[in-house]
Amino acid sequence: MNKYIIAPSILAADMTQLGKEIAAAEAAGADWIHVDVMDGRFVPNITMGQFVVEACRRVTKLPLDVHLMIEKPEDHLETFVKAGASGLTVHVETCPHLHRTLGHIKSLGCRAGVVLNPGTAIGAIEPVLGLADLVLVMSVNPGFGGQGFIPESIARIRDIRKKLDALGSSAWLEVDGGVSVETIAQLKEAGITAFVAGTSVFKYPQGIEAGIKALRSYL
Ligand code: DX5
Ligand code: ZN
Repeated sequence: MNKYIIAPSILAADMTQLGKEIAAAEAAGADWIHVDVMDGRFVPNITMGQFVVEACRRVTKLPLDVHLMIEKPEDHLETFVKAGASGLTVHVETCPHLHRTLGHIKSLGCRAGVVLNPGTAIGAIEPVLGLADLVLVMSVNPGFGGQGFIPESIARIRDIRKKLDALGSSAWLEVDGGVSVETIAQLKEAGITAFVAGTSVFKYPQGIEAGIKALRSYL
């Protein structure tokens, strides 16, 4: 596995060509495929669910990095694991029993991720930093692709990187939102090891392969 993960978000893919777009990303060296599940409640949009995860599972061997932007994610963990998720990432804002939920994900043999919104204090995830296999920092407010990167995210990433290092944690530190050739170098420098990228891969003007190559050239 690469030291730095590029995880194209299919939210930005052409949905009429999803299989082909995923195959193109895989051929271009994507490491994981990021699937944004939204419920129209926790976030304004409704996107895709377990049937799309199942369909992705049939067209690629890459790990499926499933980002659950839904209320009560604990009710759907088995469903998404059965559908083929390799990692499930839950929002601290939706999980009153975060410790239990992460433990449950791990018990299903799945990578357990926790994610926090730009407006959520880092302290909210501190008690589970030793348990999480992945920590995702939102660098936009979740719910839409193609938004501008929030620059204050860098200081938050540095802070979480320090805390993970102090614990000796080997968890992935992932970022999601506005990752592009303009932002990726500073994100790497701040300690990110996994980069979600929607627009800058699937809507890259020169195509998916060029988009991934452009990002990788900074890693
Ligand atoms: C936003 C989603 C992201 C989104 C990123 O709520 O979680 O994964 O697809 O899109 P870009 O890379 O275009 O900012
Ligand atoms: Zn996402």
